[in-house]
Order: sequence, then structure tokens, then C-alpha cells
Amino acid sequence: MISATGLYTPPETISNEELVASFNLHVERHNHAHREAIAAGREAPLQPSSVAFIEKASGIRSRHVVSKAPILDPDIMAPRIPERPNEELSLLAEMAVDAAREALARAGRQGSEIDAVICACSNLQRPYPAIAIEVQEALGAGGFAFDMNVACSSATFAIQAAADMVGAGHARTVLIVNPEVCSGHLNWRDRDSHFIFGDVATAILVEEERIAPEGHWQILGTRLLTRFSNNIRNNFGFLNRAAPEGRDRPDKLFVQEGRRVFKDVVPMVSDLILGHLAATGIEARQLQRLWLHQANANMNRLIAARVLGHEASEAESPTVLDTYANTSSAGSIIAFHKHSEDLEAGAMGLICSFGAGYSAGSVIVRKAA
Ligand code: COA
Repeated sequence: MISATGLYTPPETISNEELVASFNLHVERHNHAHREAIAAGREAPLQPSSVAFIEKASGIRSRHVVSKAPILDPDIMAPRIPERPNEELSLLAEMAVDAAREALARAGRQGSEIDAVICACSNLQRPYPAIAIEVQEALGAGGFAFDMNVACSSATFAIQAAADMVGAGHARTVLIVNPEVCSGHLNWRDRDSHFIFGDVATAILVEEERIAPEGHWQILGTRLLTRFSNNIRNNFGFLNRAAPEGRDRPDKLFVQEGRRVFKDVVPMVSDLILGHLAATGIEARQLQRLWLHQANANMNRLIAARVLGHEASEAESPTVLDTYANTSSAGSIIAFHKHSEDLEAGAMGLICSFGAGYSAGSVIVRKAA
């Protein structure tokens, strides 16, 4: 069962207005610097971005970030995160620990009661030692810890892994953390995607039912799916360093074919959820809430309608996209964290993530008495 969740929200935000003003300044400067080539028809001018397009295409109005000023500086347009000495907690571990402390407090647990930590996220800041082991150490947890990455689906895949470990008797209390510094992999100069992501961290405690605190959520079933696609891709990696000629190309950041992702993923995810419900013997009308991955409001509207058989209300399928934007693996967990306490014992709902891979995960939960 899920005994509690936690959330760390970076204090700085960037509104669409601020984002578009900085992007358009970059466009103006670029077009001015390249005016001769543009006038001679050798180069196409860059096109400006617009707040109205962003809100209509995605539902995003603002995002939280860990390093605001450099992102908005048209000469930089990327976060600037100083490297820390090895003796200091890394940024991802720091964010994860903050979210974890909230989950622990809500469940009435001490760090020492944790016997496994999974750091599940899209963008790990280093290959090793695992961020999860650093979090384990910082919280005084026992047992073992490891990192895993299934892009935006990392949290639901980790919930299944944790539930399996608890079921097999390998752990009683598993802490999952999802620290996402998406601003580091976003190409802030790419008009098609510069508005998509934000930074955040979430935490989930998955525990044995026997030790469950009041108000916990039983995990009634999990179902995962992957299908290879190049339509969301990031080629950054240690081999780029070994072959530096392509190191700074845009494919070393987030790249997507947004339209194709939309078309492929909506049916893939709704079929996954409907198949999962059928296999569990639960009807869609029994679900009081869908906590969907937060990538795009239009996508969520379509998926929810296909699952529920009618247009979903905000109460049935809450969104946090307007204030958080897409926060990769953390999105559906933020929605769950912020919009689950009002439900009564016996209420059923579904946490669902989807993203690069492609990958998708469905977790059906019921609030315990
Ligand atoms: N400002 C203004 N106009 C823009 C723009 C911007 N920032 N970016 C693109 N446009 C323009 C395009 O040039 C295009 O113009 P045209 O019709 O004259 O050619 C038009 O808006 C439509 O662009 P398109 O890219 O087709 O938009 P879209 O409606 O598909 O929305 C996404 C783009 C990315 C929001 C949408 O495709 C999406 O959300 N896809 C799924 C993304 C996803 O979930 N990814 C998972 C990541 S984990």
C-alpha cells in the first residue's frame, strides 16, 4: 500500500509571460544578427513564441525552476547550477530528501525505518554512486537503494517494483523519490518545446499493509507497458564526452515529435488503463479520480474521456499543469498528493504515467478504512 506522499516545490517560478518575453528577445537578437543571410534568403528567420499558443496547446501557465535568472537571460537560456563538492549533498538528493521528509512525517515514520530506497526519475545527475544511496545515507535508512529511469513513467514503474519487493518480503518500507530537474534537459531555445517542463521532487512510501498508517491507499493492481519509439528522445550521455564533435547538438537535450507523441500515446494509454481495469474486475465508473501524468491538458482530456466514457470534470481528473508544467515522473504523483485527501474510505482511483520509451504505467488504488 501507499502510506504517504511528499512534495518539494522549488520556490522560483517562471510565468508564460516572462518565458515568452525572454524567448522573443532571443529571436529578435538572432534575426538581427543574421539579417543579411535572412534578407538574401539563405536563412529562415526564427519565429516568436506566444503565450496564447502555449496555454491553448498545453494548459501550462507557469513552472517552478531551481535556477530562474540564467534561464531567462537570452545570452544563457539554461539553468546554471554550480557543481558541488563530493562532501555536499547533491542537488537531486537534496530535493528528494526534502520530499521524503514530508512523506515520512505524514506516515509517522523515521528515516531509520526505511529498508529500501528507489530513486526513479528521468534525469539522473550522475551515473554513480546512485542518488538513491545518497538519499538512504542522508535519511539514516537501512537496507539497500538503487536508481532507475523509465523517463516520465519512472514513478509508476517504481511503485510496481516497490510493491513486488514488499510482497516478496524483501522490504517492509520502501521509499520512492522522484527528483526532476527537467530544466536542465530542456532546450529553452526550441520554440516547439521551450514551455513544456518544470522542476520538482516527489516522494512515495510503499509499505506492508500490516504496518499501514491511517488513511493509506491499498494498491489493488499495477500494469506496465513499454514500446520502443524515437519520438521522444535525448541522446546525452557519457559517450558524447568521449566523442566530443556532437556534444553540443540539440539532440543532446529533450527532442520530441509532439504531434506524433500525442497520436500514439493517447490510444496506447487509454487501452492500457481499460485492459488493466477489465483484468482487475473494476469498472471505470467505480473510479472516483484519475491522477494522470501531467504532460498536456488536451491529452489528459482525451485519455480521461476514453476511460470514463464522458468528459471528465476537474474533480475526476485534476490537473497541476497550469502551475507545475510537465515535471516528468513526478506529475501524476503531485496530482495524487494534492488531490486525494478529500476522498473517503473505500474510494477508488487510478494513478497513470506515460512518456518516453514509449512507456506507460497504471496503478489502481483504494483508500483504506
Ligand atoms: N508559439 C507559437 N506558435 C508555436 C509555438 C510557440 N511556442 N510552437 C509551435 N507553434 C506553431 C507551429 O509552428 C505550428 O504552426 P503552423 O500551424 O503554422 O505550422 C502550430 O503552432 C502548431 O504546432 P504543433 O507543434 O503542431 O502544435 P501542437 O498543437 O501539436 O502542440 C505540443 C504542441 C508539444 C504541446 C503537443 O503536440 C503535445 O503536447 N504533444 C505531446 C507532448 C507530450 O506529452 N510529450 C511527452 C513529453 S514527456
